[in-house]
Amino acid sequence: MMSNTVSVQQAKNEWSEIAQLHKEYIPKGFLSSLGIKFLERLYKIVLSEPNSFCFVAKSSDEVVGFVCATRSISNIYLKFIFRYWWLGFLMVPKFSWKFVETLFYPARKKNNSDVEILSVVVSKEFQGKGVAESLYQKLFRKLAQFNVDKVSVVVGEDLISSHKFHQRMGGQMSQKFKIHQNEFSYIYIFDVKKYI
Ligand SMILES: CC(C)(COP(=O)(O)OP(=O)(O)OC[C@H]1O[C@@H](n2cnc3c(N)ncnc32)[C@H](O)[C@@H]1OP(=O)(O)O)[C@@H](O)C(=O)NCCC(=O)NCCS
Repeated sequence: MMSNTVSVQQAKNEWSEIAQLHKEYIPKGFLSSLGIKFLERLYKIVLSEPNSFCFVAKSSDEVVGFVCATRSISNIYLKFIFRYWWLGFLMVPKFSWKFVETLFYPARKKNNSDVEILSVVVSKEFQGKGVAESLYQKLFRKLAQFNVDKVSVVVGEDLISSHKFHQRMGGQMSQKFKIHQNEFSYIYIFDVKKYI
């Protein structure tokens, strides 16, 4: 039986568990639509990237939550394309175009944050227990050590629990915009200094 005790630590090589959680809890997102193998490859790059910051929440050695953030999302996607260019042949053009939209959506340039949170997920049985809050606290403390002031996160319109969480955490909603056709998202900005 899994214990209720959760510890938050810097992620090392948990890309597979992180990818599983992403696919299960953000199932309508574009990245999930590209499949579990895609997510595993992507998170493997995220975890190996020096400008990324990932933390996992573990209970009985099992990953029950994570947060990943990066200084440069473009670097991650470009590394992905460079390493897995041959996958492009397998992607239908519609998906390839969505990939480009995800990478270069104009609101990203305007939000002036130093770091972008890529995703945060907590598994169902551990939700509502402050796990995501602990993940953010660890993340923000780490970012403060790197002199990061502002952090942003993009939240899709239909991710209700995520909006509630980010509002409760004190994120300032700055913009509503479209990354893909008919799919609205919002950007929340956090002032790292407030959390240390
Ligand atoms: C969003 C998510 C990460 C929050 O994780 P969590 O561990 O349950 O959040 P916490 O327990 O740390 O919540 C902290 C505060 O946020 C608020 N909150 C979080 N989830 C909430 C919900 N579903 N409804 C209302 N308030 C919520 C609460 O005010 C809570 O504090 P309180 O319980 O003291 O009032 C989790 O619900 C999740 O994984 N959702 C699905 C995936 C997702 O949408 N990820 C975000 C992608 S951008």
